[in-house]
Amino acid sequence: MWWLAHGEHDVPAGAQWLSPREQALLAGIRYTKRHVEFLTRRYAAKRALATVLGRDGTADELARIEVRNYPGGAPYVTLDGQATAIELSLSDRAGWAVCLVGAPGTALGPLGIDLEIVEPRSRGFVEDFFTAAERDAVLALPEGEARDEAANLIWSAKEAALKVMKVGLRADTREVEVSLDGMRRADGWTSMTVTARGGAVFPGWWRRDGLFLLTIAGTARREPPALLAGGGLATAKPTHSWLSRPMR
Ligand SMILES: CC(C)(COP(=O)(O)OP(=O)(O)OC[C@H]1O[C@@H](n2cnc3c(N)ncnc32)[C@H](O)[C@@H]1OP(=O)(O)O)[C@@H](O)C(=O)NCCC(=O)NCCS
Repeated sequence: MWWLAHGEHDVPAGAQWLSPREQALLAGIRYTKRHVEFLTRRYAAKRALATVLGRDGTADELARIEVRNYPGGAPYVTLDGQATAIELSLSDRAGWAVCLVGAPGTALGPLGIDLEIVEPRSRGFVEDFFTAAERDAVLALPEGEARDEAANLIWSAKEAALKVMKVGLRADTREVEVSLDGMRRADGWTSMTVTARGGAVFPGWWRRDGLFLLTIAGTARREPPALLAGGGLATAKPTHSWLSRPMR
């Protein structure tokens, strides 16, 4: 399992690295924010996939690799238009996109990744979207950085698990409960576990890089993903470039 992050500033100019299908999809996006997010997610995904598939990162090669979506939104990978069995999950936040990918040919089961930033979350947010145990744990923390980190981390872990379940935010976020009980490793990853009300368990990991919080989840406890060359979040700064031009 590997992960990779790229910022919107990494996205190549021009459309040659996109398939004709992706170019058509992009042409239909009028909001700058969605446009930039789509491009950044696709760039991170294609770079990660090219590496695990052993292909070079030329525009022509990247255009052959696509991430498409099932009707419910969950992603799948195609190569030259043919579906592959590669597991992948995507997320973006504040100008940065992350991709989690499994090795081709391994039966990892579904994966989930989510990227957030540490930002204020209201008491109402915590009360509406968190389970009683999560709410009590967050509200027991002093207001400010500690509480904001915990609230965003729990939110992110829920989203990662809901992506593993392939339901996304159509589900009630209180259907899954996050346990943050792990020890931080030297490489920055801390283990965590998400448990669904029905009993399914989604073990995962989280890390903090600057203002960014990254969570990943799967269906079994594994080693944390390795970072692919060329893109982490160590020096990433949140950007909101779309604000200066909301419509394209
Ligand atoms: C999944 C979801 C929680 C992501 O939330 P978000 O914080 O807005 O977005 P993120 O950047 O973290 O993730 C976006 C990625 O999640 C993935 N995703 C979307 N729905 C998913 C699902 N049901 N299961 C797993 N992954 C999903 C996609 O890969 C998407 O990127 P892509 O569209 O470029 O392929 C949210 O989009 C959702 O619940 N969507 C379901 C409802 C919906 O509107 N579906 C759209 C049908 S096309």
